[in-house]
Amino acid sequence: MRRNGPLSGEVTVPGAKNSVLKLMATSLMTDGVTTLTNVPDIADVAIMGDLLAAIGVTWSWHPTEERVLLLTNHGNITPVAPYELVERIRASINVLGPLLTRCGTVKLSMPGGDDFGSRPIDMHQMGLEAMGATFELRHGYVEAHADRLHGANVTFDFPSVGATENILTAAVFAKGTTVIDNAAREPEIGDLAIFLNEMGADIEGVGSSTLVVHGVERGSLRPVVHEVVPDRIQAATYVAAAAITGGEITLRNARPEQMEMLLRRFADMGLSIVPQTDGMAVFAPERMRAIDVATLPYPGIATDYKPLIVTLLSVSDGVGIVTENLYPGRFRYVEELQRLGANISTDGHHAVVRGVRRLSGAPVKAPDIRAGAALVVAGLAADGETTITGVHHIDRGYDDLVGRLHRLGADIERR
Ligand code: UD1
Repeated sequence: MRRNGPLSGEVTVPGAKNSVLKLMATSLMTDGVTTLTNVPDIADVAIMGDLLAAIGVTWSWHPTEERVLLLTNHGNITPVAPYELVERIRASINVLGPLLTRCGTVKLSMPGGDDFGSRPIDMHQMGLEAMGATFELRHGYVEAHADRLHGANVTFDFPSVGATENILTAAVFAKGTTVIDNAAREPEIGDLAIFLNEMGADIEGVGSSTLVVHGVERGSLRPVVHEVVPDRIQAATYVAAAAITGGEITLRNARPEQMEMLLRRFADMGLSIVPQTDGMAVFAPERMRAIDVATLPYPGIATDYKPLIVTLLSVSDGVGIVTENLYPGRFRYVEELQRLGANISTDGHHAVVRGVRRLSGAPVKAPDIRAGAALVVAGLAADGETTITGVHHIDRGYDDLVGRLHRLGADIERR
């Protein structure tokens, strides 16, 4: 039987989707030209760009080596985010904080995005209400008002990524000091806070679970040039691809320190990972060992890594139990892995994965971004041909996954 790999060579990790989209939304807060570099060439950037264009910020993409995105804000903002654009990505909710704090009013269609379980916005609302905003839900639109927000103590029950980001941006122009407790600590939130401080905001505690924001005057931010943090999920995808093919690869522009818990678990599975100045080298064993994994907010194992982990476990030696603590419905891709011969059973938010020696190629369908990429990784370990449809999901968050894998020696093509 034909086997894909082992992969070898070098891959450069693109900028993070879950950072760049938020940085783009934050460009609403300052007039002038914001310059983002290391921007991934992914569909969601274009969707967010179109949403911003509808609100009043134009964008242009320059696919040079620096991968530059220019966002031009002429100060003529209409704080309305229409349904047709908002329903396409979850990150559109990130215009809420910037628009409300800048304009005093915002009308936003309820956000869409990946369809994995219920994704309410009650924590966003609770935080903004504590800062003086009023909310109304009318005809599928959230309408929020506050002539000027004021500082408040906001304590989250759970460290929501999106809610932390919206309260953070909103607090920048609030009168007085806002303290966000039990804030999410994902590296992409750190990137946003650093970006805001570069623009002239006054945020303390960056990277910690207590963020202290001293409000500054509206109009006092200035546009800056900022490099997007590397994408730890795309990086993990290449590590998984090397792991499943028994390969040895080097990742450039990766930040192993932002993937510490995951890399520790990969080491438990038998991978050898050597941090380097600009990334890391990965050496895979012939066959990995099974482990148990539970997803948690950062610095725990991200839910976005989980489809990759389930895929690796499906060919590892032994039995692994994977527990999902963030999105209970996020096991839909398991049926697709089963079509490839994986032995997985699910019960509520647990999956029991019994490793098999080889998967066997079959047609499968990508249900969302991360699961789609995991199916590609699974295809590398499957005998014969695996055909993946629904790849537009993968395009939302992966910058040339096929080309990058191909250059590492994978037998993969896009038709
Ligand atoms: C972000 C990421 C997504 C990742 C997730 C968790 C982006 C664009 N997406 O999504 O890839 O999987 O973090 O790491 O950055 N919740 C509420 N009420 C709220 C807000 C959230 O109940 O007001 C719940 C959600 O339904 C979910 C959990 O909290 O069960 C986590 O959500 P959150 O951390 O907010 O994730 P997102 O920002 O949507």
